[in-house]
Amino acid sequence: MAGPVALAGAIRVPGDKSISHRALLFAGLAEGESTVRGLSRGDDVRRTRQALAEFGVRFTDEDGYLRVLGGLREEPSTVLDLGNSGTAMRLIAGVCAGQDMHTVLTGDRFLRARPMDRVAVPLRSMGATVDGRQGGRLAPLSIRGGNLSGIHYASPVASAQVKSAVMLAGLSAAGSTTVVEPVATRRHTEEMLALFGVDVEVDGTAVTVRRSTLTPAEVDVQGDPSQAAFWAVGALIAPDSRVRVDNLYSGHGRTGFVDVLRRMGGRLDFDRTTGTLEITSGPLTAVSIGAEDVPGIVDEIPVLAVAAAAAEGTTVISGAEELRVKESDRIKSTVAMLCAFGVHAEETPDGMVIEGTANRRGGEVHSHGDHRIAMAAAVSGLAATGPTVIHGWDAVATSYPGFADHVAELSGGAARLREVTS
Ligand code: S3P
Repeated sequence: MAGPVALAGAIRVPGDKSISHRALLFAGLAEGESTVRGLSRGDDVRRTRQALAEFGVRFTDEDGYLRVLGGLREEPSTVLDLGNSGTAMRLIAGVCAGQDMHTVLTGDRFLRARPMDRVAVPLRSMGATVDGRQGGRLAPLSIRGGNLSGIHYASPVASAQVKSAVMLAGLSAAGSTTVVEPVATRRHTEEMLALFGVDVEVDGTAVTVRRSTLTPAEVDVQGDPSQAAFWAVGALIAPDSRVRVDNLYSGHGRTGFVDVLRRMGGRLDFDRTTGTLEITSGPLTAVSIGAEDVPGIVDEIPVLAVAAAAAEGTTVISGAEELRVKESDRIKSTVAMLCAFGVHAEETPDGMVIEGTANRRGGEVHSHGDHRIAMAAAVSGLAATGPTVIHGWDAVATSYPGFADHVAELSGGAARLREVTS
């Protein structure tokens, strides 16, 4: 791929990944028929569907929507392989803790290297038997569930996945289950459990559920703001660009990237009612990003770092140590990606320092198996001079299989991602 190119046009990004996982899981838990529209077609969400099928949940693909016949009727007779998906592993662990079944969850080598003790610890204290390898990176994870008691859990990490795992176990536990977060994270589980008829109490950063059954529902999955962030940054930094993204989810904890890019001077119009985001290219200035910002932009930092690399001044990101345990060590992989474009960037223990420059040349980047690093590199490449080569591009299939088509569409065919075999 060779830049720079201008981006223009209107697109719809894939259905939100976090919402898609939950739509399948909750429809799977609800006895009876639910429908889901606009589901993400990425591999991560496909893994959740496959795992649920092992519990006896039945799926029928209709024209434009998915019909789900819920009810966990069977104990899986095989190991559930969740691929690259941390959300699938942690949320399904919460579901399994509530079932009188034995389940084993695994994933690819990247997922098996991610911390699972953060869900194992609270699920054990509710009464589930959770076992795995030594040292916190437990997967393959073995869970024998059932007979749980509710807990009051003050989570040491601001993680919607941890919160959701404990809440899902709480649906099968005696008494009430409360999770208190250090900083409020995305609220998809709270919002969607309510849609499936569950009473969820939210009080500041505390959320409480009780033993409940879910009633089937119809879910319409809106566009994924994390995927829109790639086009927002692309359109801001590629000269003469103007892009519109339609039908985005605009709820709590997901659109922090719009605020950060505006703080940088970016021209973004966001209609939260319709979910329409319009972006026009223009100059950016450096910004300071701190711990309080991070939960709202946790998946967008690689591409926000690309914006910072094109901004005037030095951007400092801190309080982002969670990035070290994402699909890759995203502090390391983001800094390496920026350096490949000739940008001066440095790691800090909990973030990075980025010196913006107008002289970015195409580079050779490694995704480290991380879809967001690959796509952030592609966006950077669109606005850099000369060709960019991205190794490990296949990681993009986990969340955005149509990304390359959208590059071609928005650049009017001027930029193409070409697969090369090395
Ligand atoms: C997610 C929560 C976030 C995010 C992930 C999806 C979710 O992870 O990074 O991509 O769907 O709940 P953490 O909760 O671990 O921060």
